[in-house]
Amino acid sequence: MAKKIRSITGMSDILPGETKYWNLLEETARKIFNNYHFSEIRTPILEETPLFSRGIGEGSQVVQKEMYTFLDKGGDSVTMRPEGTASVVRSYIQHSLQASDEITKLYYMGPMFRYERPQKGRLRQFHQIGAETFGVDHPLADAEVVIMLDRLIKELGITEYKIAVNTLGSLEERKPYLEKLTNYFLSDKEGLCEDCHKRLESNVLRIFDCKVEACKQIALKAPVLIDSVSPETKSEFDTFLKALDQAGVQYEVSPRIVRGLDYYVKTTFEFVSDRLGSQSAFAGGGRYNGLVEDLGGKPTPAVGFALGCERVILLMKEFESSSSEEKEFVPGVYFIPMDEKSFTKSKILMQNLRDGDILSEMAFEKKSLKSQMRRANKFNFKYAAIIGSDELEKGVVMLKDLEKSEQHEVKMDDLLESIRK
Ligand code: HAM
Repeated sequence: MAKKIRSITGMSDILPGETKYWNLLEETARKIFNNYHFSEIRTPILEETPLFSRGIGEGSQVVQKEMYTFLDKGGDSVTMRPEGTASVVRSYIQHSLQASDEITKLYYMGPMFRYERPQKGRLRQFHQIGAETFGVDHPLADAEVVIMLDRLIKELGITEYKIAVNTLGSLEERKPYLEKLTNYFLSDKEGLCEDCHKRLESNVLRIFDCKVEACKQIALKAPVLIDSVSPETKSEFDTFLKALDQAGVQYEVSPRIVRGLDYYVKTTFEFVSDRLGSQSAFAGGGRYNGLVEDLGGKPTPAVGFALGCERVILLMKEFESSSSEEKEFVPGVYFIPMDEKSFTKSKILMQNLRDGDILSEMAFEKKSLKSQMRRANKFNFKYAAIIGSDELEKGVVMLKDLEKSEQHEVKMDDLLESIRK
């Protein structure tokens, strides 16, 4: 026997039993985003490598360790997108989307790639749904995306989660703070782990993310940025929080959330749930006012988020109500012909129903009544249409309602109408 080929580690198939969750998530997101006046954008999976190394930041973990980067046949370095924001920004600049309106609201969904160690909720090919607002530097725009995301999560039936919010201040405000923070950690350097020694050099904020207990303890007493931001930033952050209050969105201000990507300024946020285990963040985002300019566009403020579909679907399953686990009948007809002539007639009737947008199915060759009924039941068809020589002669089908366990004759000519009713 030939050797079986398996999917690549960390890249999962989404099998037919799973797709209903994906469709529900995507349809609900589209519906809600549309209500907030966001339009869909689709960008390629492959981009030139500098888009991400410059966009996300050379020092970030994603760029340093996790990108799927290779030379294409022309010798150019290309990367499979590890996130959507940089690509959307590239497209926004390339197509001068700001020209059609000063505010541009875009959403996207699709696969992203990061070479991480796979575990529950962490894959190498995963999927994001994200939204980005360009052209407005107002805390109400930050609040709008958080409220929209919150509504989406609630509509999916997910109830136990927390929203952590923070402000990182502007780049200018951050500089003296980073110095203060570095000095604080330097004064306790022996207490920090090896990795944190490196973080002291590369990105001191990342020490807040360290999982080593000793480092966590030291980080607990470190100065926080929110205490050193300017009165304007503080007031903007308050406006953001007030807007969340007014929309009934519950949040916690957590001065220690740092995001893994380097482009954030001012507002940042994360949606987390204890139900997910160690990969608890199922969505995150914030403001990135410098990115459009860094990637060659005109200075343009922007804010947005992305959710991880796999993690959100884990939560959808956790909170699925028991009623939806009950047998759900499929509103369609399974044809069961009893002989050769009925088989031909059934095929014609089935085609009529399908042309009339009614789901219908039958075997590709004549089978026993028992085996056909088994299939109709297995797939939860609401109706079985039995046709034998008697029915053929009378021009009817015996329509069995498998949900109500009733049956009655229906004229073949009236079948489509009667099912539609
Ligand atoms: P991020 O926090 O890197 O942000 O990713 C957003 C979400 O994608 C995470 O909260 C997580 O649910 C999911 N995710 C990330 N990596 C993986 C993985 N390896 N496996 C499964 N799920 C994963 C961004 O990507 C930003 N672009 C968000 C953003 C948009 N900020 C502003 N606009």
